[in-house]
Amino acid sequence: MSYLSADGPGGIDARRARLKEDARIGLCAPVKSIPSAWFYDDRGSGLFDEITRLSEYYPTRTERAILECKAEDIVMVSGADTLVELGSGTSEKTRVLLDAMAAANVLERVVLFDIAEDVLRRAARDLHSLYDVEVEAVVGDLRADLDSLGGDGNRLWAFLGSTIGNFTREERGRMLVRFARAMSDGDSLLIGVDLIKDTARLIAAYDDSEGVTAEFNLNILNVLNKEMGGDFDVSKFSHRASWNESESRIEMRLRSLDAQVVSLPEVGLQVSLKGGEEILTEISTKFTADGFADELCDAGFDVAQRWFDEAHDFVVLLARPRGERHGTSGMRPADVPFAVH
Ligand code: AVJ
Repeated sequence: MSYLSADGPGGIDARRARLKEDARIGLCAPVKSIPSAWFYDDRGSGLFDEITRLSEYYPTRTERAILECKAEDIVMVSGADTLVELGSGTSEKTRVLLDAMAAANVLERVVLFDIAEDVLRRAARDLHSLYDVEVEAVVGDLRADLDSLGGDGNRLWAFLGSTIGNFTREERGRMLVRFARAMSDGDSLLIGVDLIKDTARLIAAYDDSEGVTAEFNLNILNVLNKEMGGDFDVSKFSHRASWNESESRIEMRLRSLDAQVVSLPEVGLQVSLKGGEEILTEISTKFTADGFADELCDAGFDVAQRWFDEAHDFVVLLARPRGERHGTSGMRPADVPFAVH
């Protein structure tokens, strides 16, 4: 089992540098925002875990049901011996895929990639003790250079939970192109996306009756307090979730209840908020299956297969990078992962 130490080159310092830059850019803009990646400290990861068990939050259990039902097909169609999971979290759904790979006697290696270091370490340890395979854990965010997640074999890259929906159309396009470029022939991408449905159900999934999502949203301010020395008073903000019809997405915001000034010394920033002013903390795009298949296609993938739950609430697609992708688009972001090999 190997960890890419977050204390090594590009480790914890790179994470802090990213957060600092994201906070500066996001909180100085005329419309304030904080990227949703920063929800996931230990507490945020725990709260997200709680969200996945809420009756209103259907995506996780629906996707898991699809995987449980179709894992054997997925593994067979992919021909993979290695699972690379992007944004692996607690890796609960990973196990469904790993069980199928183990049952088919093809499982050789697992690579977990996530922003939440402690959760990642725990998941890697658990998987290592459950399956007799090599487990590699890499800390980073999805802007990182993914080429290092390589290794031999046929890889199944899993990007589940509709995490791709947390990005805009342009960001998704760039991200998928980078995935395609990091993948070898013989690799495939397994990606799950949430589908457009009744607005009331969508909003309820992001504004649950127990207030867990509200706590999850507000926790991003705790992250800024802890990591950037901020003095956000969480009780002076409220959780908001709304549906943006034209962009086909849920938007989560934190509304400042009063006029207030917050300081973030480690960013070198004083943030003035008007009463009622909002900070955008997350977008969660909802798709049509055809629309998302087109996005994959535009990014250089061929969609091999797709699987729905009965109610068509969610879809899981398997796609392969088209051969001609290498060297077609010269643009390539110079991002580095938090931790490098
Ligand atoms: C797992 C990151 C895709 O957007 O539905 C859950 C995160 N935010 N409730 C989502 C989330 C609020 C979730 N993702």
